[in-house]
Amino acid sequence: MKAIKTSFLVSLILSSALCAQEIPQGIIDTGNKLSKTLLQQLGSKLKNEIKTNGLISAAQFCNNNALTLTEEVNLAQIEGQSVKRISLKERNLANAPKSDEAIVLQNMQKMLASKTLPPYIIEKEGKTYKYYKPLVINKGVCLKCHGDISKNKELSDFMHEYYPDDKAVGYKMGDLRGAILVEIKE
Ligand code: HEC
Repeated sequence: MKAIKTSFLVSLILSSALCAQEIPQGIIDTGNKLSKTLLQQLGSKLKNEIKTNGLISAAQFCNNNALTLTEEVNLAQIEGQSVKRISLKERNLANAPKSDEAIVLQNMQKMLASKTLPPYIIEKEGKTYKYYKPLVINKGVCLKCHGDISKNKELSDFMHEYYPDDKAVGYKMGDLRGAILVEIKE
C-alpha cells in the first residue's frame, strides 16, 4: 500500500509518469518479480565468485557473464517482457540509458537527495510499460569495484584494460548506482 501511495506522489513529480490507479497490478507484479530475479541471479553468483576465487576473478566473471546471465533471464520470460541494468555512469556501454531512461535516472537522483525515492517508478510509452527499480549502493562489497579502486593496482589495471571508458567508479555508500529496468509490452 505504501509503495503505491509513494508512486502516486512520484507521478505528480514526473509529468509523464502514470498515476497509480492507471497501472495494472499485473505490471507491478511482473516488474517486482523480474527485477528481483535478475538481482538474485547476478548477486548470488558475484558473491560466490568473490568468496571462492577472489576479487579479480569476480571482476573477470562480471566481464564475461553479466550480460549473458541477463540474456538468460530474458530467454526464460514470456515474449514481450525483458529486464536489464542501466546507469548514468556506466562501466559497460551496453548498459547506457536511452534518453527517456536517463531522465528517469536523473529524477531518481533528485528524489534520493530529498529522501523521497520510491521503491519503483513506472512509465508508459506507447504500448510498453517501463518499470524502474532504483539500485542504491547499500553493501560495502559494491565499493570494492565501484568505489575508489585506485589503491588496488591489479583491479584498476583490469578495469582500464577491459573498460577504457569506465565511468562506474568513485561511488560511495548510499549513492544511486543505477536501476533495473523491466520492459513489459501490454
Ligand atoms: C568484482 C567486482 C565488482 C563488484 C564487487 C561489483 N561490481 Fe558491479 N560491475 C562490475 C563489472 C566488471 C561490471 C560490468 C559488467 C559488464 O561488462 O557487463 C559491473 C556492472 C554493474 C552494473 C551495470 C551498469 C554498468 O555500470 O555497466 C551495475 C548496476 C552494477 N555493476 C552494480 C553493482 C552493485 C550494486 C554491486 C554491489 C552489490 C556491484 N555492482 C558489485 C564489477 C563489480
